[in-house]
Amino acid sequence: MGMILGIESSCDETAAALVATDRRIIAQRIASQIEEHAPYGGVVPEIAARAHAEKLAPMIADVMAEAELELSDLDAIAATAGPGLIGGVMVGLVSAKALAMASGVPLIAINHLEGHALSPRLADESLDFPYALLLVSGGHCQILMVEGVGKYRRLATTIDDALGEAFDKTAKILGLGYPGGPAVEQLAKQGNPKAVPLPRPLVGSGEPHFSFAGLKSAVLRAKDSGQHKDADIAASFQQAAVDCLLDRLRVSLDEADSVPALVVAGGVAANQTIRKALEGFADDRAMRFVAPPLALCTDNAAMIAWAGAERLASGQSDPLDFVARPRWPLDPDAEPVRGAGAKA
Ligand code: KG4
Ligand code: ZN
Repeated sequence: MGMILGIESSCDETAAALVATDRRIIAQRIASQIEEHAPYGGVVPEIAARAHAEKLAPMIADVMAEAELELSDLDAIAATAGPGLIGGVMVGLVSAKALAMASGVPLIAINHLEGHALSPRLADESLDFPYALLLVSGGHCQILMVEGVGKYRRLATTIDDALGEAFDKTAKILGLGYPGGPAVEQLAKQGNPKAVPLPRPLVGSGEPHFSFAGLKSAVLRAKDSGQHKDADIAASFQQAAVDCLLDRLRVSLDEADSVPALVVAGGVAANQTIRKALEGFADDRAMRFVAPPLALCTDNAAMIAWAGAERLASGQSDPLDFVARPRWPLDPDAEPVRGAGAKA
């Protein structure tokens, strides 16, 4: 049995975790920076990098102490090396390099998206490749075919905003604070999802990509019109999001060979309405539906350690001069998408 230290610092969560190769999470620490960023209504890169630098080293010391392990007991040190806010990524990656250099333990540079993509296998031993992954977070909105470790095919991505971002912006428009997803979900419970006519961008389009910028603008117009209750706007927005997700999934999966399982990951997977809709979608197509526990869906270090474990098992590690990457598509062969603000 092996033991991997995982480090995550690519956005606004600082995290360290020890994961054994038999899938036990031995120790973990996670600190969110919600309070630091809340006054600005979004993540401020400079504040994030400084907070990671302050919090990470004590966290690593804590998990090692809790597990009563020395660095030399580790089989690998896995750190997120991108994509993400480059200052934060560098804090985590440089820490990992320093520990690896001091101890002689191999470094594994992990693509944050790969962490999300493989995390369901940490929670569920029976989940075999291939599976379709819907990754919906604050920074990403993608449909991926996960064919094996290091084998990812991107079927769809967003041409503008990520879905979590659209939830956060809707929350801001409705004066609900940051992070917005949970607040919009709560308010939507009291609203009528059919009350406000909102667009479903790209629904019906033959290409599988997402777009949420137009939906956000429509939410702003609905609010400014003064004609709708906030709860109705929240519920209608959430319903539009669900309709977009299901339609885009349909197009992606119709193009792919039949896949046995649909997996959801990323912070938006916390949304119960979205989860139920995805479950129904998978049922209709006789696919197994897998939603990892919420703590593994949102950013965390256990998923980075686990991706390290999967890479280590296939004999991979990285040189100590591995350079942090602000952009790092999981599927290098994916076609670029149209749209000025397209994200990898
Ligand atoms: O994966 P995550 O923790 O961080 C990254 O963005 O990588 O995702 C955070 C995103 C935020 O945009 C947040 O508003 C959204 O997930 N989110 C939700 C819910 N909980 C979190 N969106 C909708 N409904 C929720 N219940
Ligand atoms: Zn993430």
